[in-house]
Order: sequence, then structure tokens, then C-alpha cells
Amino acid sequence: MTDKTPFYITTAISYVNGVPHLGHAYESILTDVIARFKRLDGYDVMFLTGTDEHGEKVQQTAEKNNMEAKDFADQNAASFEKMAQTLDISNDDFIRTTQERHYKAAQAIWQKLLDKGDIELGKYAGWYSVREEAYFTEDELTTAEDGEKFTPLGTEVKWVEEASYFFKLSQYTDRLIEYYAANMDAVLPDVRLNEVVSFLKQEGGLKDLSVSRHKSRLTWGIPVPNDGDHVMYVWLDALTNYLTAIGYPDENAATFKKFWPADFHVIGKDITRFHAVYWPAFLMAAGLPLPKHIFAHGFINVGGAKMSKSVGNVLSPDDLVQTYGLDQIRYFLMREVAHGQDGNFSHEQAVQRINADLANGLGNLAQRTLSMIHKNCDARIPAPHEFTEEDEALLHKAYTMIDRVRGEFNAIKINRALEQIWAVVSACDVYIDAQAPWTLKKTDTDRMETVLYVLAESIRCLAIIVQPVTPSSASKILDQLQVKANSREFLHIASNHALGTNIEISKPEGVFPRIVEDVEAA
Ligand code: MSP
Repeated sequence: MTDKTPFYITTAISYVNGVPHLGHAYESILTDVIARFKRLDGYDVMFLTGTDEHGEKVQQTAEKNNMEAKDFADQNAASFEKMAQTLDISNDDFIRTTQERHYKAAQAIWQKLLDKGDIELGKYAGWYSVREEAYFTEDELTTAEDGEKFTPLGTEVKWVEEASYFFKLSQYTDRLIEYYAANMDAVLPDVRLNEVVSFLKQEGGLKDLSVSRHKSRLTWGIPVPNDGDHVMYVWLDALTNYLTAIGYPDENAATFKKFWPADFHVIGKDITRFHAVYWPAFLMAAGLPLPKHIFAHGFINVGGAKMSKSVGNVLSPDDLVQTYGLDQIRYFLMREVAHGQDGNFSHEQAVQRINADLANGLGNLAQRTLSMIHKNCDARIPAPHEFTEEDEALLHKAYTMIDRVRGEFNAIKINRALEQIWAVVSACDVYIDAQAPWTLKKTDTDRMETVLYVLAESIRCLAIIVQPVTPSSASKILDQLQVKANSREFLHIASNHALGTNIEISKPEGVFPRIVEDVEAA
């Protein structure tokens, strides 16, 4: 029995037509940081990530590589699973849309929509973009001098005519408009909600959506139930993954009842429409409640430019971790990218941040304090004597920081949350300089002990609260402070003076080395 509040969070599932890059890493880390925060804040978290393996893109890339689609998907899915391990992602499940459980769920939702009369067989004639796996109308396209047509995102289209099943999306325009008017935090940040609402309010409303592909063009997909000529449109297939992982189609499964509707779908801004228009319409049709929030993050550019193979600036998560260290990369991305906006990665910025905030900031504070304790207090965390106003003020900042940080986290303003935490790091630095425990050593050892205790107690709070972002370094600091594994949840931050005293500590080792020489960016 658990009385914890459930919290279900997902990333988008990655296409396996390529291998992971920094953009995928960013989304996984962001979602992981929120999942870890919620666990430490006492929630019963279900965190899902995985791979999206069907569709024309995957089929075509597999063909180019002279491979069977399934073998190609297996190979690349493995590299995404490996990325999750490399980045210390704490996902509870890894879903692959080629799994049997997912075929079952996707075909079940199809059947639900069909039975309801919301899916019907028709004929499609129009422009189709393989890259975006979507159809376009003539007026949405631009025509180049050679007559070739392009979508607003610049991908090529080709004319196709084929039998297709359609989902009656047009019938959901008004319900979706009403839904977003009543749930203005369902899509975050606001800029994305506004885009969705203006899309819904387009003249003539939403058009019906083609939700199948004919076998003459695509075979790599989930078969449409009872019609061997068609496979399911990859987005209807892929979006359903969020239901599969918690037991759908068994709506009575304990996990399904506990975790649906999802609390957060974390996605990139490019796929907002699929999540904020198509997905809720499918769910409404299936008679299921809608996810509480969709958070659409921005894109990570590299050296100020969009990542692309032709520019040659695609960064691999593995190389970044090798070059800078895992917690360092996690911290940099969370600190540098503002809420929902695009961010940039550059070697100079990374070195600057890592050195300023981690090596010279938290790392140096912990190292200095623990070394002084080790050297001057017989390697034992000293018990405090009398507290001064300055001591109380610093401890108060450390104990209450969780309230400020929680608010920012719940709004997915992770960079702001980190600013709040680092304000306490700075307060500790100011305090240590003002109290100068190294001089107290000769003049007043009682006072020195109190000062070192106040610092160690503040560092305990800091290390607990940074666990979601820099998990392994934070746990090293907590190990050094001899904080027990069962005392590392957020509720222990505010349990005043929870730090054990007179416990022996081992010789401290720095957790965030300073980057000294000019390491070449990967
Ligand atoms: N398969 C779809 C998602 C289906 S969800 C039911 C897809 N896959 S993807 O591999 O192209 O992208 C996976 C996620 O990574 C998306 O949320 C996408 O926005 C994100 N990113 C891809 N490149 C990115 C950056 N350069 N920066 C940040 N995120 C980016 O879309």
C-alpha cells in the first residue's frame, strides 16, 4: 500500500531512422530531472521513454542501408536505450513500438475509434511529405523555380492518390477549442498554446486526418485490424505508446487506473500539433481523459546554428559526456536553456558554466568545508555551539530553499530553480569569507566548529536538492557527509539539523574538477 500521489511523465519516443544526438539527450535529461525531482518530493513516479519505429522514414533509411526494417530498427533502438544508460536516465520503462504489447494497444484504440464511427474508409489525393509523415494542401506549400514543392518546414512533397482511412478530426474542432479555453495550462509554455489555438481556429476548422497508409507505399507499420491492405498512420501508432506502457487496452489494469491521465508529456516544439491537437482528439474519441500538461521545449542549437549533418555540427551524447562529464552536461543544459526557449551549446559556454558554477561554486564550497573539517576537527563533523544571527540566517535560507525551488520546478522553470539553489551557494561563499573559519582555528575553536557545522548543514541541503540534476556528484557529497540513503528525500531538507555530528568522515575528494586546458569540443 502506498499513499503517494501518482505522477506519470513521458518523453516523446525517438525515431529510429537515425542515432541519438544532443537534442534527444536534452529532452531525456529534462524529463529525467523532473521525474527525479518528483520522486524525491514524495510522488509515486512512472517515467516512460522509448523508440518510435514504424513509418516511411524508417522504411526508407533501412532500404538505403540494405537492411530489413526490423533489423535496422533493432540496431538503432539499441543505441537509444544505450543513450538512456549513458545519461543516467531513471526511466521506469522503455517502450518500443515494435513490441507486441504495443501492437495490441494500437489496434485496440483503432477498433475503438472505428466502432465509434470516427474512422471511415475513403480516398486520399494530395501532397505528402515523407519527412514529416503528413499531408499538405496546395496553399500550404511553396513552389521552387524548378516546380518542386515544399512544406512550410522546407521538406519535399510528392503527389499521392490512394485509398485511406480517415479519422473525423473535423468533428473535434469545437470541443478542442472549448477544452483549451477551460484548461489554459494544458499546453505549456503559453506561446505554444497560442499556436495551437490559432491552428484550431483556422477558417473552416480542422480537416479530417488520413490515419492509414496503403501497402503499395508502406508496409512497415502496424496492420489495420481486419484490413490487410493498410498499416496505421505512424502518429496514431506512436502516440498510443503513452497508453500501452501502463496497460492499455486493459483500462482496469492497476497501472492504468493509477497513472492515466498522464501528468506531463515532455516534447519538442516541432511536434506540438500532434500532441495538442491529434492526440486529445483521439483520446476524446476513445472516451479517455486528456493528459494534464504538454510541455513543449525549445530546440538546442550548436554554436548558434541548427544541428545538421551537412553543417557537421551534430553532437553525440557519448562524446559530450566523455569530454565534460555526465553531471556537468546535465547541469549545463538545465541551467543554460530557459523555460521553453531554444538554447545553444558551445564549448566556451560549457567550460565557463562548469567552471564557475560547479568547480568554483558548489564543488569548491563542499571541498573547502570538508577539508577544514577533516583537518581541524579530527575528521568529525563538529557539533555546533551557540548560533549567531548570521548562522541562523544562512540555515534559514538553506532550509526554506525547497519552497522556492519546488514552485519553479512545477512550472518546468528548471533554470530558475537552479538560480534559486545557486543563490544559497553564493550565500555560503559570502558567509565563509565573512566568518573566516581558518582564522578562528587559532582564536576560537568553538566558533570555528559552529561555523563549519553551519556550512556542512547547508551543504547537506544543497546536495539533497541538486540530486535530480547532478545525481552522482550529489550522492558523493552526501556520502562524504555521511547522510544515510533513507534521509535524502526533500522532506529531510527542512528537518532542521538533520546532519549527524561527531561521525567520522573520510578524506574529502573534489566532485567537480575544474576544466583547465582547452579541451576540444566533441
Ligand atoms: N517520433 C517522433 C515523436 C513521437 S512521440 C509520440 C519524433 N521523434 S524524433 O526522434 O524526431 O524526436 C524526438 C524528440 O526529440 C522530439 O520531442 C523532438 O522535438 C526532440 N528533438 C529533436 N531534435 C531536437 C533538438 N535539436 N533540440 C531539442 N529537441 C529536439 O519526433
